[in-house]
Amino acid sequence: MPEAVAFQGVTDHSGLHEFSVRETDTFWGTLAHQRLSWISPFNTVQNCDFSQGKIKWFESGKLNVSVNCLDRHVHTYPERVALIWERDEPGTEVKVTYRELLELTCRLGNLLKRQGVGKGDCVTLYLPPCPLAVASMLACARIGAAHNVVFAGFSAGALADRVRDTQSSTVITVNQGVRGGKVIDLKKTVDQAVQNCPSVRQVLVAMRTENTVVMTDRDVPLEEEMMKENVVCDPVAMDSEDVLFLLYTSGSTGKPKGLVHTQAGYLLYASITHRSVFSYQDGDVFGCMADIGWITGHSYSVYGPLCNGGTTVLFESTPVYPDPGRYWETVERLGISHFYGAPTAIRLLLKYGDEWVQKYDRSSLKTLGSVGEPINTEAWDWYHQVVGDGRCPVIDTWWQTETGGICIAPRPSDPDSEIVPGMAMRPFYGIKPTLLDAKGESLPGCESTGALCISLAWPGMARTIHNDHQRFIETYFQPYPGYFFTGDGAHRTKEGYYQIVGRLDDVINVSGHRLGTAELEDVVSLCPAVAESAVIGYSHDIKGEGVGVFVVLKRGVQIDQDVLAQQLREMVSRNIAKYASPDFIQVVRRLPKTRSGKIMRRILRKVVEQKDDLGDLSTLDDSEVVYEVIRGHQKLR
Ligand code: WTA
Repeated sequence: MPEAVAFQGVTDHSGLHEFSVRETDTFWGTLAHQRLSWISPFNTVQNCDFSQGKIKWFESGKLNVSVNCLDRHVHTYPERVALIWERDEPGTEVKVTYRELLELTCRLGNLLKRQGVGKGDCVTLYLPPCPLAVASMLACARIGAAHNVVFAGFSAGALADRVRDTQSSTVITVNQGVRGGKVIDLKKTVDQAVQNCPSVRQVLVAMRTENTVVMTDRDVPLEEEMMKENVVCDPVAMDSEDVLFLLYTSGSTGKPKGLVHTQAGYLLYASITHRSVFSYQDGDVFGCMADIGWITGHSYSVYGPLCNGGTTVLFESTPVYPDPGRYWETVERLGISHFYGAPTAIRLLLKYGDEWVQKYDRSSLKTLGSVGEPINTEAWDWYHQVVGDGRCPVIDTWWQTETGGICIAPRPSDPDSEIVPGMAMRPFYGIKPTLLDAKGESLPGCESTGALCISLAWPGMARTIHNDHQRFIETYFQPYPGYFFTGDGAHRTKEGYYQIVGRLDDVINVSGHRLGTAELEDVVSLCPAVAESAVIGYSHDIKGEGVGVFVVLKRGVQIDQDVLAQQLREMVSRNIAKYASPDFIQVVRRLPKTRSGKIMRRILRKVVEQKDDLGDLSTLDDSEVVYEVIRGHQKLR
C-alpha cells in the first residue's frame, strides 16, 4: 500500500521517520504545501521555543479550515457522502454529502454572523454527535470564530465553568438528546448553566426530538432561522496561528484547562495521521466511536477524515443498545472499514461473549484502532481474533488532547512492521520521544522506563492554555526543561518499541476519560459533613480505572455511610458528570500523610488494589493510619 508521504525516494516508515526528525522543516513544510489549500503561502515552517512555551507553525500563511474540509471536495465529488449519522435507533442512519454539509455549514455561518458572532469570538457547543454539530464546528471555522465543544454528558456546573472561562456569547444545543433509548434534556441543562453566565447573549436550539421545550427571549430556533439564510458564506482568511478551537481537559491540579489548538498545524497533523496511521483510502468508511466532545471526536470523526475527503461515522448510541451486538451490526450495515474505539468498550463487550460479534458480517473491516487508555492483552487478543477474525491489524494509538493527533502507533502499512499486543509501538513522523529519569537525565538506548517526553515540536501540539499561558509552561515545559512532558510514563523495549505505562500524575483515566483527583476533591469538600478527602484511581476490570473516595468527617458529625455515599455521588454527577461518580466511598478517621502533611494517595491506591507490598512507608507521619484504612476497607468489601 503506498504511503501518504514520500521524500527523496524514501517510502518506508523507518526511513521516513528518520528523515522527518532530521529535516523537520523540509518534511512539514512540504506536507503543508501538498496537503492543505492556502489562501496565501506561509513564510516560515516553524518558530518554536519550548522554554517560553512558544509554538508557531506556518506563520504568515492564510487559509480557511472549512474550505479545506468542504469546498475543495465539493469541487471534485459533491455527491460523496461526508457524514453518516448513526442515530440511536439502529437502521435510522442519515447520510450527508459534501455538498449538503457545505450548505448546512454556510447557512449556520450566516446565522452566526447575523447573531453578531465574528472573528475572535468563541461559541460553545453542547451537542451530541450529529451533522449539525459538525456543521457548527465548521461554521465557526468558516467565519473565524473559535469553538468550544463541551461533552453533552457534562453537568450544568461543568458547562457553566467552561462557558464562563471562554466568555462565549453563543451556545448551540438541541432540545433533547437521545442515547441508549433514553431521552436526555440537554436544553434544560443549558438553561441552568447560562443563568450564571452573563456573557451569553443567545442560545441556538436545534430539534433532535419532536418534543417542544420552553423557549425564552434568549433562545433562537436553529433550524427555522437557519433556513432563512443563504447557502453561500464567504470563508474568512485566517492566519495559521489564529485559534481554531478550545477543548477542556483535566489536569492534576486545579480546574480543567482550556487547551488551545490553532488552524493550519492542527489540521495538517489530524489529516496526515488519519491518512497515514490508518492507511485511509478513498471509498473507505471511517467509524470512530468517540463522542465529538473529546479530542478523538475532533481529530478523527471530524477534522482528519473531512480534510481527507473521507466518509466518517457519527455514532450517537452506546455499545450495548439495543444489545451488545450494536457495534458489529453497525459495521455490517454501514460497511465500516476502519473501526476506532476505546478499550473500555472492548472489555465490556468481551464479557458478553463471541456470538454477539459473530452474528454479523465484518468483512468490510480492514483495521481496528484503540485509543484513550492502555489496552490489556486479553482485550487486545479478543479485538484482534474475534472482532477482526485474526485478519485485521489492531492499532493501539497513544496521544492526548494536548498532542492534537496520534503520536505513537504501529504502522501496519509498512511491510517491515510488526505489532506487539498492548504496545503503541512506534513514533509517528516528526515525533521524537525521549524517556527521562527522575533526575531529568535522558535515558539512552533501549530497555528503559521513564517519563515520556517529546523533544521536537510538531504541528499538532496545543499552543497554550486559554487565559493561562504560565500554567501551560509550568505543566508541560518546566518539569523537564527542553522537552514537552506528557504526564505519562513509558517503557522502551530492546527493539525500540514504546509501551505506555500510565499517568505519572494525579490524573485518573475512567473509561478513557480524564479526571483530576483535585477536581473531584474540590466537589467532595463541598459536602457539609466532610472535613477532608482523598480521591484515588485504582485498577478496574471494565473502566480501566475506578474512582475511590476516602473521607474524614467533621468532628461530631454522625451520618450513615450509605446516605453519605449517595449524597457524594449526586454532588459529583451534578458538579462534573455521571461518569465521574465514585465507585466506593470509605469513611476513615485519618488519612495517611507525610510528615509535611502531603496525602499519600499512592498508598491508598495500593490498599484498594490489595497489594502485598505497600512500598516505602517510612515517609509517613504515622504508619498505623494505613492499617486503620486497610481494616476499614476490608469491611467495605
Ligand atoms: C491515556 C485521548 C495508553 C494517556 C486521545 C494520555 C493512553 C491520556 C492511550 C490522554 C493509549 C491515551 N495507551 N494510554 N493508546 N491513549 N492514553 O487527552 O494517559 O483524553 O495521557 O486524549 O490518555 O487522554 P485525552
